[in-house]
Amino acid sequence: MAMFGVTTSTPIPDEFITSHAAWEGYIAHIWQQLLGHYGVERKDTLIEIAPGCSSKVGLALQKIAFEGTLYLVDPLGSALEAVTEKYAKYLPKAVIYPIQTTLHKALPLLPKKPDFLLANHPLDDMLLAAITESVTPELFVCTSKAYTQSRLALEKEPTKFISFVISCWQRAVEELLPGMTIVCQYPSLILKQHNLHSLNIYAALIMEGLKKHCPSTLERPEVLQRLLNAHENFGDEHIGTEVLNAKNWMVLKR
Ligand SMILES: C[S@@+](CC[C@H](N)C(=O)[O-])C[C@H]1O[C@@H](n2cnc3c(N)ncnc32)[C@H](O)[C@@H]1O
Repeated sequence: MAMFGVTTSTPIPDEFITSHAAWEGYIAHIWQQLLGHYGVERKDTLIEIAPGCSSKVGLALQKIAFEGTLYLVDPLGSALEAVTEKYAKYLPKAVIYPIQTTLHKALPLLPKKPDFLLANHPLDDMLLAAITESVTPELFVCTSKAYTQSRLALEKEPTKFISFVISCWQRAVEELLPGMTIVCQYPSLILKQHNLHSLNIYAALIMEGLKKHCPSTLERPEVLQRLLNAHENFGDEHIGTEVLNAKNWMVLKR
């Protein structure tokens, strides 16, 4: 199987499986490289969509001592509070505005022409949240009742919800006019392990749709792949065929 990235004899670090922080650090390093390549500056204005509790983008920004303005958009209050607190620690000089709502509802509250619009792995969760009015932490736990209910609704008419999430991003790019938009969505291992791979497939369809329909210039896949190929894949199939695969990343330039 073709693997992307640098294949070395180093085995995948155990912490990638046992520690959330180690995995976040690995993904943060990719973000750091991409943001650096596409010219992020310390005083820029950035918007991150659906950070959840994750600090992958925040850790990347810490590496450049980011001290600009950062809007965090997520409907889940508990996650937004936790991530805002973490980012404030990593980025003590940045001005952080948490906005507790979904991407499409946040549009009137967000600045026009931000330097970057960013999201790490948001699409499967946006799909689930598109089905319900009440976004709770259980919605994103694949063993919960709320999750199962949303999945059933999704399976009845997947095209409707897929189109809705694509249209949210289209509108965001159209109305906000970000200098650069970067989104990644590699398949989730947890969903694969729980036999819930269809959500990964729907998320991949959204990514394809975004690349086709977003009103902006798409970075050439070969350029993106060259950048991603700089990262070590540890001979791991998930990293080598999915995480470091340019098809699972989108870079748009205004
Ligand atoms: C698991 S996190 C997302 C992944 C996270 N960025 C990461 O890298 O691990 C899922 C988050 O997406 C948020 N979310 C779902 N739909 C959203 C929407 N339409 N706009 C913004 N955030 C959304 C949820 O509230 C949840 O906190």
